[in-house]
Amino acid sequence: MSDAGEIPTSKTASYEADPEHVHRVLLLYSGGLDTSVMLKWIGDSYGAEVVCLTVNLGQPGEDYEVIKDKALRLGAIECHVLDAREEFAREYLAPAIKANALYGGGYPLFTALGRPLIAKLAVEQARRSGCDTVAHGCTGKGNDQVRIEATVATLAPELKVIAPVRSWQMGREEEIAYAREHGIPVKGGTEVAPYSIDDNLWGRSSEGRWIEDLAHAPEDDVFQLVTRPELAPDEPEIVEIGFERGVPVSLNGEAMGLVELIEAAAEIAARHGVGIVDHIEDRIVGLKVRDIYEAPAAALILPAHQELEHLVCTIHQNQFKPQLDRQWAYLVYAGLWWEPLRADLDAYMEHLNARVTGTIGMKLYKGHARVITRSSENAVYDASLASFTESGGLFSQTASPGFIELFSLQSRMAWRLHNE
Ligand code: ARG
Repeated sequence: MSDAGEIPTSKTASYEADPEHVHRVLLLYSGGLDTSVMLKWIGDSYGAEVVCLTVNLGQPGEDYEVIKDKALRLGAIECHVLDAREEFAREYLAPAIKANALYGGGYPLFTALGRPLIAKLAVEQARRSGCDTVAHGCTGKGNDQVRIEATVATLAPELKVIAPVRSWQMGREEEIAYAREHGIPVKGGTEVAPYSIDDNLWGRSSEGRWIEDLAHAPEDDVFQLVTRPELAPDEPEIVEIGFERGVPVSLNGEAMGLVELIEAAAEIAARHGVGIVDHIEDRIVGLKVRDIYEAPAAALILPAHQELEHLVCTIHQNQFKPQLDRQWAYLVYAGLWWEPLRADLDAYMEHLNARVTGTIGMKLYKGHARVITRSSENAVYDASLASFTESGGLFSQTASPGFIELFSLQSRMAWRLHNE
């Protein structure tokens, strides 16, 4: 027999399940090794029924029929597949775009945005299917456990959580042995552990293997979404993104729904090698971890949005908003999607983005996307005022010396105090 771990006998948190109260479990199921082993292991260890839920957030290349068949074959009493792409785009990605959401200067938060939605859908399905417990496949070292468990504990205090991967203490070899013993198909070669991947409409992350060695430059095989810039076309491509109230609504003049637009933007950016981020991240649970991100759609849409927002806002709004953007990104990264401050911030983002309407042109070339054209009826810009060659009008150059005298007054006084 393989050395399968024991179920935990003591609890640290109130929302963790007592083993004797685990009767029907809603398992967040991906079809991969961990969650497939979990499916069997929960049945064996708790004697519980398992209901599986797989959520489609636009992760490419999934066959949901295959996943569903596998779950049912492994003994799930039900397996539900939910297509949540529209809700994800509308309720999670659109607010992220309005907040120019990047964590740590580079991570567009695709996983962090997906987890609260997945966990919310798990709560809803658990209630429909009469489950008492939610199970997920996150480890004890990441942010995802925080996001999922905080969501379940917030939205459904009556539901409890189990996290078998965190407690069962099986290594990869033991898991594979357990899988073989229990008739769970194990894909591919088993010698080299695969990268740990998470992906959806907004991007893809890879962790593990050589990525953990900070001195190791990226190996080519990690890039499954974005063309390596050195292989990208020799001709640049220009893309125009139209925005209405902060949300992208057209690509090259063609109106599109948000899901479709994000997919189309991802395809173009990926072709030109745009959207690769090699990122060291301060996790919520203390660790620093390196991730390789491929987020082509975000690498095109976020800078375009930011540029347009900058154009239609005043200097004061432009000085202020990045502070709120950073706070928004931090809350979402940290798994506090349901924190009221996030809704407070969203109210501000909404209000300000009401004028973020217009078009931004981007030029893509071998790994770079650069803004080249801007237009908006709401631009706080007057070409004749800004012009070097025209004079007069509303802008009075003769008023400038008076402005400079008063504007620099305190700085001049302080300079003299400190330097004389
Ligand atoms: N580091 C990123 C985050 O915390 C990505 C996590 C990816 N998750 C995964 N299970 N591979 O959001």
